[in-house]
Amino acid sequence: MIDHNVRVNIATAVRLLREGRTVAFPTETVYGLGADAGNPTAIRRIFELKGRPTDHPLIVHLPSAESLPDWTREIPAQAWLLAERFWPGPLTLILPRHPSVPLEVTGGQETIGLRVPDHPLALELLRSFGSGLAAPSANRFGRISPTNAADVRDELGNQIEMVLDGGQCRVGLESTIVSLVGPRPCLLRPGDISGAELSEVLGIKLETSQSSPSIRAPGLLPSHYAPETPLILRPTETLWSWVTLLTERDCRVAVMALTASQSMTGSAGKVNRVPMPLHPREYARELYASLRRLDAGSFDFIFAEKPPATLEWLAVHDRLNRAAISPSNPFITGETA
Ligand code: TXA
Ligand code: MG
Repeated sequence: MIDHNVRVNIATAVRLLREGRTVAFPTETVYGLGADAGNPTAIRRIFELKGRPTDHPLIVHLPSAESLPDWTREIPAQAWLLAERFWPGPLTLILPRHPSVPLEVTGGQETIGLRVPDHPLALELLRSFGSGLAAPSANRFGRISPTNAADVRDELGNQIEMVLDGGQCRVGLESTIVSLVGPRPCLLRPGDISGAELSEVLGIKLETSQSSPSIRAPGLLPSHYAPETPLILRPTETLWSWVTLLTERDCRVAVMALTASQSMTGSAGKVNRVPMPLHPREYARELYASLRRLDAGSFDFIFAEKPPATLEWLAVHDRLNRAAISPSNPFITGETA
């Protein structure tokens, strides 16, 4: 149920969006920075606010799969199958762009990313607006996506007209992206909806972006979603010896820990141990907010204990690997794990 105050907020948001302004809104994955996908001036404002290169395409959010024909000139049967099974939900489909879609939205490409988000506020906003909203994650380019309204304000401050507050995002990581424009469906970004679930609906195995590396997408850059404090990803076996070494050298260290291992005798005062959930979905929900909190905590290093190398952790591994400092960093030369 949407209460009276929320309706008023949505009416205000719709008015702002019709005037070509930006509104941040919650989705089930992360908060989006929304603007009218049919208005090139409004779209340019998104790129300005995010500091995002203009050739990186945006996802257009739709009120339902029924509006697909307005945004894509060709809807393969696979798109209907996936939409029927997973929308509203954390799945973005890459399809051929409809000629009426401004090229500003697609970063100049002939394809477009489309999804129907599964969040009551987002759906109400989209229905009231009555058309597509382009919305990248509501963070500055290269930074961690916000998963609550306070984090959106931290990222974009008073530069944006309005933030609709829908609480903490349920999924916490960006949507799964599947391209349906190549010869075979291709998983471009892992997310809450797994490759196995998609394969089951489509009846074929998906390609991965490693096998089709030609598509431009910032979420696919090796370094992305990064905190400013160096994040170091280590397996349980080597993590604590690194932490001990650094704390002995008077570094302030935070550890996102999965196991209860290792009493921090001797360095307890300098280590902030953050217990992370052992279930991949719960871990995903907390990951970005934890990284943000620790990034603001004046630590010299943030360590993350590597989750198990199983498929259910794939999306979490993907984001942790992008957020972590590169293995070529001199600090961790010699460590191969
Ligand atoms: O969960 C999500 O997808 C969130 C919420 C707000 O919906 N949005 C999001 O947007 O993560 P953004 O812009 O931060 O990431 C969108 C990803 C980018 O990596 C972008 O390049 C890719 O989608 N993308 C969008 N259109 C594309 C296209 N035509 N071809 C390939 N990749 C595309
Ligand atoms: Mg993003």
